[in-house]
Amino acid sequence: MNTKLMPLATLITTITLLTACDSTVSKSSDQERAAKIWPKLDIKVKQSAAVEKQVSELLAEMTLEQKIAQMIQPEIRDMTVEDMRKYGFGSYLNGGGAFPNDNKHATPDDWVALAEKLYQASIDDSLDGSTIPTMWGTDAVHGHNNVIGATLFPHNIGLGAANNPDLIEAIANATAKEVLTTGIDWVFAPTVAVVRDDRWGRTYESYSEDPVIVKSYAASIVSGLQGGFGSNFLDEEHVISTVKHFVGDGGTEGGDDQGNNIASEQDLFDIHAQGYVGGLTAGAQSVMASFNSWNGDKVHGNQYLLTTVLKETMGFDGFVVGDWNGHGQVKGCDNASCPQAINAGLDIFMAPTTSWKPLFENTIKQVKQGIIPMSRIDDAVTRILRVKVRAGLFDKPSPIKRALAGKSEFVGHESHRAIARQAVQESLVLLKNNGKLLPLNPTQKILVAGDAAHNIGKQSGGWTITWQGTGNQNSDFPGGTSIYDGIKQEVEKAGGAIELSENGEYLVKPDVAVVVFGEEPYAEGNGDIDNLEYQRLNKTDLALLKKLIAQNIPVVSIFITGRPLWVNAEINASDAFVVAWLPGSEGVGVADVIVGSAKSKSEKAQVNLDFKGRLSFSWPSSPQQFDLNVHDKNYSPLFPYGYGLTYNSIDIVPSLNEVKEVETSQMSDLVLMKGTIKAPFKLSIGSGEKSQEMTTSVIENEHVHVRTIDKVIQEDARKITFKGQSMARVSIGHAFPTDLSGYYENNAVMTMAINVSKPIAQQTIKVAIGCNSECSQGLDLTAYVDSKKLNQWQTISIPLTCFKTSGSNTNKVFEPLVFSSKSAASLSFADVVLSVNENPKKTINCK
Ligand code: BGC
Ligand code: BGC
Repeated sequence: MNTKLMPLATLITTITLLTACDSTVSKSSDQERAAKIWPKLDIKVKQSAAVEKQVSELLAEMTLEQKIAQMIQPEIRDMTVEDMRKYGFGSYLNGGGAFPNDNKHATPDDWVALAEKLYQASIDDSLDGSTIPTMWGTDAVHGHNNVIGATLFPHNIGLGAANNPDLIEAIANATAKEVLTTGIDWVFAPTVAVVRDDRWGRTYESYSEDPVIVKSYAASIVSGLQGGFGSNFLDEEHVISTVKHFVGDGGTEGGDDQGNNIASEQDLFDIHAQGYVGGLTAGAQSVMASFNSWNGDKVHGNQYLLTTVLKETMGFDGFVVGDWNGHGQVKGCDNASCPQAINAGLDIFMAPTTSWKPLFENTIKQVKQGIIPMSRIDDAVTRILRVKVRAGLFDKPSPIKRALAGKSEFVGHESHRAIARQAVQESLVLLKNNGKLLPLNPTQKILVAGDAAHNIGKQSGGWTITWQGTGNQNSDFPGGTSIYDGIKQEVEKAGGAIELSENGEYLVKPDVAVVVFGEEPYAEGNGDIDNLEYQRLNKTDLALLKKLIAQNIPVVSIFITGRPLWVNAEINASDAFVVAWLPGSEGVGVADVIVGSAKSKSEKAQVNLDFKGRLSFSWPSSPQQFDLNVHDKNYSPLFPYGYGLTYNSIDIVPSLNEVKEVETSQMSDLVLMKGTIKAPFKLSIGSGEKSQEMTTSVIENEHVHVRTIDKVIQEDARKITFKGQSMARVSIGHAFPTDLSGYYENNAVMTMAINVSKPIAQQTIKVAIGCNSECSQGLDLTAYVDSKKLNQWQTISIPLTCFKTSGSNTNKVFEPLVFSSKSAASLSFADVVLSVNENPKKTINCK
């Protein structure tokens, strides 16, 4: 076709027709492809003509600005009531550990007051001309977990072990009520990830490695949160739910949080999408897009999955919300601009931090420029309004006047705690009960030990008041009970004696010890690890168990954990071993099962409640069995899927293998810098809040100057100049910690290329490995540098063990490399690698 001679108008029509026609072809072939795998769901919530009419009338009146505002979701820490008045956002959220007025102890009234102010500002049309009510979304993922005093249910992994869908529905129901007391409309739950690699830090947010449980639970939890369509659907006792994270979050390579899922499309459906089949059929009104990629493409930008599969094929007619600036990770996007995500089918940008403002402006511009078609915007806003109408947001009174608002008696209500307690009872899995040590006879002398025995924060895990679940005290859980509290009640009732001692030192020699120990709380990528060994390099809990066993005290272990871990040695050092997962605020539920009815001291106790929990995750027989899943070809777990003893079991667990295989062959070098600083690591100067990331070729503060220089290729090295005013630091690190334990165990060395133009004075520049708070003392770098070699590159090698990092810190390293100096000095460096093959004979020594 000769386009040169065509009149402009014809040319444009031709091009439009060509593109339209092209996209029809690829669209229909995409649809055919999807239809082969993804079913049309029989969704319980049906479209109604009245709702659709109301939505289209609203839409017809809206300006572009009002529409985009519906699609932007800022976070309470980075927006004001005045922003809401001015823009009229369709929704907003509070992230994990974000509270009204930044006050951890905010009361339900404080929460409602904020909801009310933001609602009133949203329907105030004085500035934006809009009266559409906004809605508030929150992560109520195991109860209303950001609110002090709320009932905290076991995390999903424990609920999976309970395998009781009716109980799940009751939990969701109670959660909805507690959420509504704070004036909130919408929760970001359930997580329906089907975890395939237990190294993932979000394993505990998953009900099971098997999609069967996930599918049925998703339906129950959605019904419990939202109510039933045609009866109490989204009435004043129910909230909007979100099935998340669509799709494949539990199947990333290496169990890497936000990583890449390479499952075939069939597996994506059969394994990872079953929770959507359950949850969407039950009528979930929103879906959260996942941070992960599928075959290298971030789901936030994947039109095939978000539009063709989810909306067009499965028939989902609610909205898709993004995850925490997840759009910014799509290729070609950043937090402030991502037309790709909207075009792919994202309906709401979750836009925390201050990015919402440029994002709002850029999105408007992109619509005006035709980069985002108006039809896509209209579709997104239609979906958002449809959910708002269905949820009665246009009819319900303002937050403060709603039925449950401010009714603080519902927060941590006795009847909710009773449900949580039942969930704890049913989630416990008994792995070992040699000699029928359990149930405990409460008339004995009982020692309760271990650092999780009387620690409600630790037994509740991540997403507990704070995002990571760290920094909490027992006093932050009014109405809650620790595991010790529960045992104490039973023992005192029966006339036995109880002693609490974290380190196992007692005043009176006990008849039996209950030791409660396990993982420290974590959330998301902070919980990623690289193998399943418990307390690697730092077996303090094992030492405690052995100390008690050595005194002929029978030991019951209660293991707090977000995933199956390799605890063979700990199991060997226990007569009975119970996995309690992350039970939450009702620790008393543990005693209900492990303590029996009172009998005279010499008699065996009788069972009160039996163990009902069965493993919904296979238990590994080595630290390397992290991707162990039922139905695998060579399935050889220590305890299989579905395992769990009862008081009738006669099984004796024999002594387990405590020797782990050498892992060097399975480990690869960790490259921090080669050509460039390797993702996800970044180079920064300064520390804490003052830290600045190097994003251009020079970065400087008053203490230090860093610039890129060339070693072999362009900009493959960095030159540091310490100015000598006061302590300055330059680091390579990442927001999520890296587990370096394997590198320490395998005698890894840190190698790097160094170039100095004049000799560095001794004890000036220090090199260190940095954990959360500084964990290794700096080594004198000059000891490793040949000061006679000036203006040339030399390679230095430092065995990791020289850094003397304590074992408990090696699995949470935030900054694998830190240079610091108080004095003026300069050096250039490149090619930083933690190498496992450099030092096989351990000939390289510390200096
Ligand atoms: C998580 C989501 C959560 C969101 C809001 C994200 O990082 O992946 O599960 O809903 O933050 O807190
Ligand atoms: C925030 C949390 C949020 C999380 C989501 C954190 O940086 O502090 O509030 O839930 O990111 O990933």
